[in-house]
Amino acid sequence: MSVRMKLLCVTLALLLTANFCDGITVKQSPVLSVCREGDASVTLRCYHDDSSYYYMFWYRQRDNNMEMLTYSQGQGLWEIQPPFEKDVHYTMSRPELTRSTLEIKNLEVGDGAVYYCASSTAPVTSTQPPFFGNGTKLTVLDPNIKVTEPTVKVLAPSAKECEDRNKKKKKTLVCVATRFYPDHVTVFWQVNNVNRTEGAGTDNRALWDKDGLYSITSRLRVPANEWHKPENRFTCIVSFYDGTDNIRVTNDTISGDLQGQSGGEITTDYYVKSTQTAKLAYSIFIAKSTFYGLVVMVMIWKFQGSSEKQI
Ligand SMILES: *[C@@H]1O[C@H](CO)[C@@H](O)[C@H](O)[C@H]1NC(C)=O
Ligand SMILES: *[C@@H]1O[C@H](CO)[C@@H](O)[C@H](O)[C@H]1NC(C)=O
Ligand SMILES: *[C@@H]1O[C@H](CO)[C@@H](O)[C@H](O)[C@H]1NC(C)=O
Repeated sequence: MSVRMKLLCVTLALLLTANFCDGITVKQSPVLSVCREGDASVTLRCYHDDSSYYYMFWYRQRDNNMEMLTYSQGQGLWEIQPPFEKDVHYTMSRPELTRSTLEIKNLEVGDGAVYYCASSTAPVTSTQPPFFGNGTKLTVLDPNIKVTEPTVKVLAPSAKECEDRNKKKKKTLVCVATRFYPDHVTVFWQVNNVNRTEGAGTDNRALWDKDGLYSITSRLRVPANEWHKPENRFTCIVSFYDGTDNIRVTNDTISGDLQGQSGGEITTDYYVKSTQTAKLAYSIFIAKSTFYGLVVMVMIWKFQGSSEKQI
């Protein structure tokens, strides 16, 4: 097997084991943080519940890239991962084996990313993958872009929608939230003012438009007979976090339709198709990020292995 093939197998093995092992819990706080350009610093926190996990790592996931920033081999110890330089922009702390912080100084718009903390018993081995936290999403507000709340629109299902695999007639409503900044939104659905999570799915992340504003779509699949009752009301609710303490809520509602809806079909079809493509792209992106992260870890592990031999 080529090295690349071996790495791929290791990666796949890691991905599989990572999902099925019940290992340690890695907690990160805050879940999201909004800063302004020029702010002095922000501190991200991480805690895990097993002090036999000597290694802790901080990663940054930005655009299509997952990079290790810092790592720690034990209490009071930490190293920066080149090309970053120690204490220039990133400072890690490891006051206890189960705790770590990452401090980011002199914030810039480009620091906006998801930061992941991970922990493992060793630098990296195929049998003991690191455990990742859920990440902290950091936004550094761009002073040139105005904070803007989303415009929300619910699109009626397409009349041409096919039967699903179980031959059940379903209809897909699409909610489109557009032109907002920053990209801290949650989308949920209500049918007749009652929350509906079954059949609901939202893009994993907002898309960035050329003008610096974001958009996101969410879909709700309902039984066709539910849609065909005109008294049923389908509401899409978007909560938008504007970077201060305010959470603004916007919504749009449409009523069920006895007939197939005419007019909205092309747009609904378009969004259903385009989000499927987006989902696939996103999965590939996740797989790729994980792969790159692991390659970096393997390299560090090899490097540390060889330096230990020299001692
Ligand atoms: C991380 O996210 C998953 C899925 O959303 C959730 O079940 C889990 O409780 C979260 N873990 C922590 C430590 O918050
Ligand atoms: C409906 O869901 C939203 C978002 O998850 C939640 O904040 C709200 O409390 C829920 N409402 C009810 C009545 O369960
Ligand atoms: C939807 O928005 C309207 C105002 O546009 C508001 O009165 C209503 O309470 C909102 N509904 C929900 C469920 O947030």
